[in-house]
Amino acid sequence: MNTPELTASQRAIAKEDQYGAHNYHPLPVVLKKGKGTRVWDVEGKEYFDFLSAYSAVNQGHCHPRLIDVMQDQIQELTLTSRAFYNSLLGEFEEYITAYFGFDKVLAMNTGVEAVETAIKLCRKWAYRKKGIADNQAKIIFVENNFHGRTLGIISASTDPDSKAEFGPYLPGIVVIPYNDYPALEKALEDPNVAGFLVEPIQGEAGVVVPDENYLVKAHALCKQKNVLFMADEVQTGLARTGKLLATCGNCSCNVWCENNYETRPDILILGKALSGGMMPVSAVLADDDVMLCIRPGEHGSTYGGNPLACRVAMEALQILKDESLTDNSQLLGRYLRLELNKIDSPWIEGVRGAGLLNAILVNAKSKETAWNICMKLRDNGLLAKPTHDTIIRLAPPLVITKQEIDDCLAIIRKTFMEYTEE
Ligand SMILES: Cc1ncc(COP(=O)(O)O)c(C=O)c1O
Repeated sequence: MNTPELTASQRAIAKEDQYGAHNYHPLPVVLKKGKGTRVWDVEGKEYFDFLSAYSAVNQGHCHPRLIDVMQDQIQELTLTSRAFYNSLLGEFEEYITAYFGFDKVLAMNTGVEAVETAIKLCRKWAYRKKGIADNQAKIIFVENNFHGRTLGIISASTDPDSKAEFGPYLPGIVVIPYNDYPALEKALEDPNVAGFLVEPIQGEAGVVVPDENYLVKAHALCKQKNVLFMADEVQTGLARTGKLLATCGNCSCNVWCENNYETRPDILILGKALSGGMMPVSAVLADDDVMLCIRPGEHGSTYGGNPLACRVAMEALQILKDESLTDNSQLLGRYLRLELNKIDSPWIEGVRGAGLLNAILVNAKSKETAWNICMKLRDNGLLAKPTHDTIIRLAPPLVITKQEIDDCLAIIRKTFMEYTEE
């Protein structure tokens, strides 16, 4: 008996399944091409990308300016390691420190490396500046955090999938509830606490936005207790939430020159969109009294601060500014939530988010999981990914236009109406 011919998508999925580790559960769609807000699968079907590689592609897929600088730099010099100086690192460091208003930057590659760097930096500061006894420093995290996958950081995780059976874990970690100021007050009574590390809006937890004054109060309390306030803006940063950083004040446009922080972190952690999806580039920013606690030979990375990454990161940041992506994110995010809230479907329990980092909460009593709804959205031409069983994250590239948002809203409406009609 002849086995039916597999499609190109089925062949690609079967290969990954056979030869790759089974550490992900991707939506079954095999992408081959991307441009701006759109991606195409191997059969040529077009989709709106409503994940943006977990907010790494804020500038849109294959931004022509990023392609140009990559092509240019790749022919000149790509990697020196930090054994030598390179002609672009200093330029990048000057650019990014001015952009965010910090004295110094430490360049790394992935988001989780930057998080680990922040933890190491905080511990050095604890021993060298705060005077905590050796090996006694503690860092406070919050429940349902997501900061990446290394052993160090999963030690602070409360998600069994991320954490279970990977022990023993890193000590010196205290986990308190998110958005719970009294819990933070209590935890900060311990004089061995050196830092508080938090996502200003929790991305992987399902786009959880804290109460309005939580971060401001938490930041002020950390200052008062001489504890470093560390903001993981790997997902929320770089215009995603309608502001340059989620820790910025309310305005989106004059932040470029004003560095208008509402809660200026002692350590700022960036990644993902720092390269607009081109390559892993991450960064940790701090002022001298913190950053200079790490001395030569104490931390590093072969690829961190490589010339190619430096060129790409400067261009990626410049694009956010030149294309007013904070404004676009704020305006279209507000419009998207407004319109989503009008969809009259028993399957939708609520909509939440900031800027273009949003989520639809699926009614837990609905017969469909967020996963199945994402499959229908895919069939209708929009790619979104569920977080947990009942949350669908909506995070398109920030270059999206009003017309495209309207097209996407039509797809989302149609998808939920199909359920109502069934
Ligand atoms: C808030 C946050 N921090 C850190 C990370 C880890 O980044 P990476 O996957 O580049 O290591 C992520 C990834 O999703 C994230 O959302």
